[in-house]
Amino acid sequence: MRLFFGLSLPEDIRDAAAARAQQCSAVIPGRYAIKENYHVTLAFLGDVPPERLRDACDVLAREIAGAQPPVLTFGETAHFGRAQNAILILALLSDPPLDALHARLVHGLQAAGLPADPGPFSPHITLARHACLPDAPLPAGRAVSFVPGCAHVFLSARDESGVLRYTPLFTCPFAGK
Ligand code: 2AM
Repeated sequence: MRLFFGLSLPEDIRDAAAARAQQCSAVIPGRYAIKENYHVTLAFLGDVPPERLRDACDVLAREIAGAQPPVLTFGETAHFGRAQNAILILALLSDPPLDALHARLVHGLQAAGLPADPGPFSPHITLARHACLPDAPLPAGRAVSFVPGCAHVFLSARDESGVLRYTPLFTCPFAGK
């Protein structure tokens, strides 16, 4: 099963991200994400044998239950990859507690013998894939902030219609939430 640790977004924050996506879609062709899939990845595991799901949940719970939630703030519209076939993202402003949480989660996964993408951490909300960027500044928007209440172990899988969905399998509240 394909797993990742992530944050879901409160409804008003999803709406704000969707508003950014709508601004973008007027000028940037691409395959836009469904709003239900908006999330912030904290750590990507990839393929995990089902019998190790419990261990992955334990790693998340250990780090999240004792952690104060980070403050997340919308930054620029940006991209990963080539301009002609880009992943269009809403970048989040750099936040040391969020970076530290990512590092602890990756370390916890490695210590548990679970897979963890060690790549650079660039917190973001994916707005679209296969985007073809214009040779012009990307749309900007409001610097909305929010504090997530909990983190999840997400399953990434296609539903019966072939639509990719991110389903929370396990939820852990942050300290004090
Ligand atoms: P993203 O939108 O946060 O980039 C499930 O595959 C999700 O895990 C993807 O939508 C992607 O979410 C995230 N992810 C993070 N690192 C990844 C990686 N190395 N390979 C694939 N997906 C990754």
